[in-house]
Amino acid sequence: MTPDLFQPVRLGRYELANRIVMAPLTRSRSRSDGVPHSSLAAAYYQQRATAGLIVAEGTNISAQARGYAFTPGIYTKEQIEGWQPVTEAVHEKGGRIFVQLWHVGRISHPSLQPDGALPVAPSPLRPDVQAFTETGFQPCVTPRPLETDEIPGLIEDYRHAAHSALAAGFDGVEIHAANGYLIEQFLRDSTNLRNDIYGGALHNRVRLLLEVTEAVSRECGGDRVGIRLSPVSPVNDIGPDHDPAATYGYAVEQLNAFGPAYIHVIEGATQGPRDAVPFDYEALRRSFKGFYIANNGYDRALAQQTLALGHADLIAFGRAFIANPDLVERLRIGARLAAPQRETLYGGGREGYSDYPALTPAERAEAQSVPA
Ligand code: PHB
Repeated sequence: MTPDLFQPVRLGRYELANRIVMAPLTRSRSRSDGVPHSSLAAAYYQQRATAGLIVAEGTNISAQARGYAFTPGIYTKEQIEGWQPVTEAVHEKGGRIFVQLWHVGRISHPSLQPDGALPVAPSPLRPDVQAFTETGFQPCVTPRPLETDEIPGLIEDYRHAAHSALAAGFDGVEIHAANGYLIEQFLRDSTNLRNDIYGGALHNRVRLLLEVTEAVSRECGGDRVGIRLSPVSPVNDIGPDHDPAATYGYAVEQLNAFGPAYIHVIEGATQGPRDAVPFDYEALRRSFKGFYIANNGYDRALAQQTLALGHADLIAFGRAFIANPDLVERLRIGARLAAPQRETLYGGGREGYSDYPALTPAERAEAQSVPA
């Protein structure tokens, strides 16, 4: 049978209802201490639980990991308790939910850091990016390079966050190694100028990703771990790697040792064109033994074609899930998609978050009468 978006599929130990993934989306509606607004977030995620898999928004693994105001964390008891109603609400509807483990590295600001400290990074290179702080946008600063002997503590933060994620009822975790954040700052030679065992040669630049994946997989089991990658995305002022095919190909091959369930790949520029920089995603996919989740700018037709050609195992939709809680149903019947409101993307309450309506029965009937 030709693979299809609406077919159930087994991912690791889980039987997913379909091949549609809700991609992680930062919505900045948590408290300043990283505790999610439980009832708000539970409603929002439960409305979207018909996705085969939800990957909850980027969630800080430690106080140092934070780079955006009002983003959630997953390292304190209060945060774990804040997430529990959310995972329960998704499970109640038969959904599955992973959480994305996030450390922003240099994409932060002292006002978001414990004791006003400098953000950390592999090397002291200032990104030309505005950080979203509690008092508005402020330019990022030159980060403090991590000492080699701080890395074990950093890996322990990832492990502890993975442990906390399971305690909060998440079905697994996704390691954020994309979009110009900490792990990608180590991966690319444009942002990693180190000369210790975490920099320089390719196997050194990949070391942090592998050590994090090993620690997290030991905690959760590799089949409950995914890794997000964005081999050519320029987002967050990260310069291109001099040889993305070699860097990301090697990284993915080495990841196989830990048996991750999936890689989740942003094809092209994050939230931008899919084809700005040529890259052979098919080769990347062939280097990896687990599932390949394709993401970025997919519509129904491209998603179905990609699955039918065997170029991906699942397709992730991000922006489309914001204003379409019933995206799975809309894709199934070929209904029109609602557009999100820009002003309510980040911050605020239920408006522009958990108040986007599903199709009414009448709208559904009308959509079904028009051939998709
Ligand atoms: C964003 O808030 O725009 C954002 C956050 C995390 C990402 C990418 C984009 O990985």
